Amino acid sequence: MKISNINKLALSILTVLQCSSVANADDYSGNNAKHMYSAIKGKPWKEPQNTHAAVNNPAHYAWRLFVAVNWPANENNCRADRRKRLGDDGLASWEVWQTREETFLEGAQKPANWKKGCRDENFYTFPAGDYTVAVDEAVRLNKKAYNYIRDNRLYSLDEQERLAKKGVKDIDFPLGAKEVKAGWVTITEEDKSRYHWMEKVEDGKTTIYGLSAFHVMSKDLPNWFWATFEHVDNESRWPAVYPEHFQGWTVPSFDSAACPADDLQCNKIPEGYGIEGTKWANYRLRGTQSTFVDNRGEPTILANSHLEGFLDQESMSCTTCHAMAVKGAEGESMPISIVTGEVNPQGLPIGHVGALDPKIFRNALGEEVPYVGLDYVWTLRNAQREK
Ligand code: HEC
Repeated sequence: MKISNINKLALSILTVLQCSSVANADDYSGNNAKHMYSAIKGKPWKEPQNTHAAVNNPAHYAWRLFVAVNWPANENNCRADRRKRLGDDGLASWEVWQTREETFLEGAQKPANWKKGCRDENFYTFPAGDYTVAVDEAVRLNKKAYNYIRDNRLYSLDEQERLAKKGVKDIDFPLGAKEVKAGWVTITEEDKSRYHWMEKVEDGKTTIYGLSAFHVMSKDLPNWFWATFEHVDNESRWPAVYPEHFQGWTVPSFDSAACPADDLQCNKIPEGYGIEGTKWANYRLRGTQSTFVDNRGEPTILANSHLEGFLDQESMSCTTCHAMAVKGAEGESMPISIVTGEVNPQGLPIGHVGALDPKIFRNALGEEVPYVGLDYVWTLRNAQREK
């Protein structure tokens, strides 16, 4: 064996060792957090793509992503504005990303190119005006994610079916693709300083919306890197005001960037990110996810009490639920249900957790259905029929 091959072998063994020891890095990384953080430092306004950080220091990486995507935007070029400072008024960077509505057009027309979309007069979609879950979810795609969908015509349901028919097993978004899902709540003038907010005037009446929930998925790993953030008011304030929509934090947070290793739900922001003193200091990382199970084989759980509040939070797993995003060679989008059919004592639907049972991808006769896997991107269910 040549030297270079031996080196390669050593490297691959190292990689395997690394991977197996960090499956549950969130609980583990307290000691080397400083060291890891230096590895993920960069220009704060720049969207990071850092697989190493995603695997080895997920909580720090989640906050690094949070700062970048919430960096104030330049509305002319649909990018982060490096001259602005975190917490400045105006749209955040993710709010000039392409929306779901701009991506999946009537008749599966080809959506506009990136820059044009951002300059469009009415490119900004307001929340529907209702703080309930489904109605107000805002889904946005960064340039890499959007262009992948656009270039591969995945905005067309017929194209998805053609892939399934051809036997394509999985599509594969490029490294650096990112997507977010946001939830809003109606707030008052006094709340503004504690929220990222926007105003909508309708029939002479102004409604103020505060950002209450924020999901991020980032293609750093084959099954993506997942993180979710919530405004602190979701823990108990909104459940008291809107008990029908907010269940509170029924699953614990875990944040090894802000908290000591023995108290991962300390309910703080991390130091060193420039968050202190800004509106963003009122947001919390509820946790991150990059594997289906932990080091003990237990399913990993992660939920946002607003965005998954209409479901049983204890049985929510970003990776597991999103892995069920597939399309068959015919029929509707979403052939596989995101819930099991059972409900919890409150009557909220229970979801799938942990590694998926291969049976759910088979038909009643136990035969494999030729689904094309949509690479965890559920919003592709909004693809349209060609005219
Ligand atoms: C029970 C199923 C389920 C769970 C659990 C779940 N999601 Fe989703 N998610 C969905 C569905 C369905 C959509 C599609 C919304 C749409 O039609 O645009 C979605 C959309 C998203 C999007 C927009 C991009 C995309 O894939 O469509 C992001 C980002 C996202 N979810 C992140 C998360 C994160 C982070 C978690 C874990 C904290 C999570 N989700 C948990 C079902 C789920």
